[in-house]
Amino acid sequence: MLPPSVVEAVARDMVDCAASGRSLLGLPFTSREFTEILGRAETYIRQLLAIPDGYHVLFLQGGASSHFTLLPMNLLGNLRQADYVETGLWSHRAAEAARPWCEVNISARGNRSAMPLPDDWQISAQSAYCHITTNETAEGLQLHTWPEKIDVPLVADMTADLLTRPVLMERFDLVYASAQKNLGAAGLTIVIVREDLLGKSREGTPAPLDYTLQATAHSKVNTPPTIAVAVAARMLEWITRQGGLALMEELNRKKSDAIYAIIDRSGFYRCNAAPPHRSMLNVCFKLPNAELDKRFLAEATAEGLLDLGGHVDIGGIRASVYNAVPEQSVSKLVSFMTEFEARRG
Ligand SMILES: Cc1ncc(COP(=O)(O)O)c(C=O)c1O
Repeated sequence: MLPPSVVEAVARDMVDCAASGRSLLGLPFTSREFTEILGRAETYIRQLLAIPDGYHVLFLQGGASSHFTLLPMNLLGNLRQADYVETGLWSHRAAEAARPWCEVNISARGNRSAMPLPDDWQISAQSAYCHITTNETAEGLQLHTWPEKIDVPLVADMTADLLTRPVLMERFDLVYASAQKNLGAAGLTIVIVREDLLGKSREGTPAPLDYTLQATAHSKVNTPPTIAVAVAARMLEWITRQGGLALMEELNRKKSDAIYAIIDRSGFYRCNAAPPHRSMLNVCFKLPNAELDKRFLAEATAEGLLDLGGHVDIGGIRASVYNAVPEQSVSKLVSFMTEFEARRG
């Protein structure tokens, strides 16, 4: 979801972007107006995340799934191994995407209800980096303990939770996230990378996929996803005006806590995620059987509660309460859950 004020601003940009008399749709990436939008987006991200000096912020195409594959191409250097912490579906996919390129050492494996905590990661000193996924959207799990600085570069897929809470950026060497969940529209991937991790790309890495070249060219080796960047700039401005990441965290926690509270009160809804590992963005739960899940989804849709189906590989229900989801939507869902249980439980 996007906040209505952001949707309205983007709609205006579609007609006249930055008082240029031109539509955002036709704005060249080389134009003064787009350069200004890109600069604004970067400034907001740096401020919101308190990114220390020495990090580049890249605005690239591809989506997190493409960047799974680009990580080994860009980061292995002379090494042949990388560590992966498997916490769920997305970190498993990231590890599988790396296998054609390097030896994959699984440093720790979670189960569907808990994430292995940093103290339990067995990281090999021979690895070029260690990859983690901070929020598993399919299982509804989230890492709530930031790892201490480790001996190898730490790389994180934060697709689901970048800009939903403050982050200790100095603990990470590379963070990447697709934009479509918390900062706007699909088509944009943010890559935040420490300077000293650059210069390691494999020979033959195509230029648009090479983080070192993209950092030098300020994300303009090829055309950046201009529309998604402009939407992200609006979203970042909105997050800043709302009160920043501490407030986003407070609201996201409040929204998810309201749903977990009704699940925990009832014997009807079941959440597989153990309380200390629960995601404050994706509340995943099931009803006593698949037939009731289906009925719940159909009746919720009829009430205007949309897109509540779980990930296709997991099933059940998933309420995603990303930054722009208002508290009223959560209240409506909670009332619906109470009423549905009273009728069908
Ligand atoms: C944690 C996580 N990583 C990666 C992805 C894949 O993102 P994309 O579809 O943009 O490649 C998703 C998508 O939901 C995700 O939740």
